[in-house]
Amino acid sequence: MKPLSEIVAKTEASATLVLTALAKRLQADGVDVVSLTAGEPDFPTPQHIKDAAKRAIEENRTTYTLNAGTLELRQAIVQKFRADNNLAFHPSQILVSNGAKHSIANALQAICNRGDEVIVPSPYWVSYPQMVLLAGATPVIVSTSEENGFMLTAEQLRGAITARTKALILCTPSNPTGAIYSKHDLELLAEVIAETGIYVIADEIYEKMIYDGAHHFSIGSIASIRNQVVTVNGMSKAYSMTGWRVGFLGASQEITSGAERVQSQTTSNASSISQYAALAALTGPQDEIVAMAEEYDRRREFIHSAVTSIPGIRCHMPKGAFYIFPNISDYLGRSVRGVTMNSCDDIAKFLLDEEGVALVPGSSFGSENHLRISYSCSITELEKAAERLQRGFRKLE
Ligand SMILES: Cc1ncc(COP(=O)(O)O)c(C=O)c1O
Repeated sequence: MKPLSEIVAKTEASATLVLTALAKRLQADGVDVVSLTAGEPDFPTPQHIKDAAKRAIEENRTTYTLNAGTLELRQAIVQKFRADNNLAFHPSQILVSNGAKHSIANALQAICNRGDEVIVPSPYWVSYPQMVLLAGATPVIVSTSEENGFMLTAEQLRGAITARTKALILCTPSNPTGAIYSKHDLELLAEVIAETGIYVIADEIYEKMIYDGAHHFSIGSIASIRNQVVTVNGMSKAYSMTGWRVGFLGASQEITSGAERVQSQTTSNASSISQYAALAALTGPQDEIVAMAEEYDRRREFIHSAVTSIPGIRCHMPKGAFYIFPNISDYLGRSVRGVTMNSCDDIAKFLLDEEGVALVPGSSFGSENHLRISYSCSITELEKAAERLQRGFRKLE
């Protein structure tokens, strides 16, 4: 038989999805596992959104929609971008897709040629480098420093840009670190972006989960680079709608049209029913988003304090998203019953096998010194997890 695709052979499965599935399988087999792997809200989708989907079914809104999404939904997204992000788009500059992940993949396909480089600051969301590879381009990983709050500096960006650089992927608030770029940080990056003409894919999916009075600022609202920025967002996190699969992008007409052509020849429109649900979400009451963010904040404080009480563990207080990213490098090289912890993967495996607590090793996000803990689960679960983590790390002392 002939060999299969070289690009696909090089592509790794999403570590978070693999680990989440493993934790679920163990739980289904009756193993007592607390899972801190999830990249999804644990709240149900608000009732009025579910009602809108039921209505869409009853009203037979079950056919293909326009490839780019229904006009009503794109108008609502235009409105959302204007109100929340100071971004001005025409509905023709909006593309609705099957989740923000799909929006990013479409954007990369529209932007990249084979051999192009795409800068991905590390720690990064697991899928970015793989999506760049799937688009035929090369991810260029630029490590950010923990001391600088895991944020890419303008100097680092400038230093990483070559003649082949096509784009930068920027995630704010960040998964996995919870870092939020301020307006000033983004203006400094924008100077380099304007000078060099590269594109930016700005992933703002966690914009509604921000704490300690932090502000979310959209890099696409900086006038000098407006046409170079693809702003990506979606329904999954803010509205607890991960399974509905609706994300969207706003960009220059040229980029959106390119991404739209990619989508028209691959998946066509996002689910019609989900689009009506998304419309209800964006145009309906927003109070549940605020309530969810307050609950995440409570959990963030709890788990951050529990984890940093473990000797040798340091952890930035995240300002956004629903993850903490503790530095566990003090524990590398330690042994328990003759088994040495050579990597964060070994520590993650030890914590799962020994204490029944599942989390994602930092290596999946480009950092060997960290673990990613999702606090998108109840305080009761977090209390149980905290006890287990404290006990597990004690065994490694
Ligand atoms: C940073 C980031 N971007 C995008 C996504 C994907 O979101 P969606 O469900 O809209 O595809 C995720 C999901 O975990 C994420 O963490």
